[in-house]
Amino acid sequence: MNRDRPVSFITGASSGIGRSLARRIVQDEGHAVALIARRKDLLDELALEIEQAGGTALAIECDVTDATSVRDALRTVESTLGPVTRLIANVGGGERTDVEQFSAMHIERVFTLNVMSTAICIEAVLPGMLMRGSGHIVAMGSLAGYRGLPGAAGYSAAKAALTNMMESLRMELRPRGVQVTLLLPGFVRSKPKRKKRPFELELEAATARMHRAILVRKPRYAFPWPLVWIASVCRLLPASVYDVLLAGRGSKPRVRAE
Ligand SMILES: NC(=O)c1ccc[n+]([C@@H]2O[C@H](COP(=O)([O-])OP(=O)(O)OC[C@H]3O[C@@H](n4cnc5c(N)ncnc54)[C@H](OP(=O)(O)O)[C@@H]3O)[C@@H](O)[C@H]2O)c1
Repeated sequence: MNRDRPVSFITGASSGIGRSLARRIVQDEGHAVALIARRKDLLDELALEIEQAGGTALAIECDVTDATSVRDALRTVESTLGPVTRLIANVGGGERTDVEQFSAMHIERVFTLNVMSTAICIEAVLPGMLMRGSGHIVAMGSLAGYRGLPGAAGYSAAKAALTNMMESLRMELRPRGVQVTLLLPGFVRSKPKRKKRPFELELEAATARMHRAILVRKPRYAFPWPLVWIASVCRLLPASVYDVLLAGRGSKPRVRAE
């Protein structure tokens, strides 16, 4: 395989935002891409499409919440494509938090998927980047991390934690030659059948914006602006006002049989 190109290691590349970003990175930048996710059939399909268009792609089945699997994947990527120059830690998401079935295990699961998976990928790629004195780490936050949202105790908390982790790392890594980009999207239509949400962007429009931010190595990119503005104002509101504004948006109380 071609080892002369910069290498992007993209997690969650089998669908949605990760898959679309992978295509853009190959088409617009000519990077070789390591496509990471669990559904190998979808990764193979994308890798074939990229190879047929003249690009370089390596599909690797890997659960990014497992540090050993991530280290193994990185070893395969570096021996096949060369050193990873950019990590796109895109894996994340979360089930709704149901207060009536609240469990610490649910919160742990959401944190593992959003925060720990990112930390595990950074742990794997960072030593090489620090040794080379160059690299780019892109993490996928969310506007949901700006303030706690009803029905999303796990997800809001996890994305807030991820945001602060990346902000801390960004300041410390920059003087060492490693740049950090934190992406903070509002709603993105990554699943076609989903009901439309406020200020939701179509997948390709959203990933075009994210890719531009990645290309210029923006430290932080939150979008779209109307939702950023609303989320930023909400952050400043006293709890009494904020709670009234969002009242009734979480899970509905269940009627219990007497
Ligand atoms: N869509 C939105 O409205 C929105 C808004 C703000 C932020 N975000 C963030 O953007 C990111 C991508 O979201 P999306 O909407 O594109 O979601 P998606 O379509 O569900 O894609 C998630 C990707 O992550 C992979 N994945 C999940 N668990 C994994 C694991 N344990 N190991 C390896 N890969 C795993 C999935 O592939 P496999 O199932 O094949 O493993 C899939 O490729 C997430 O971090 C999400 O929080 C999304």
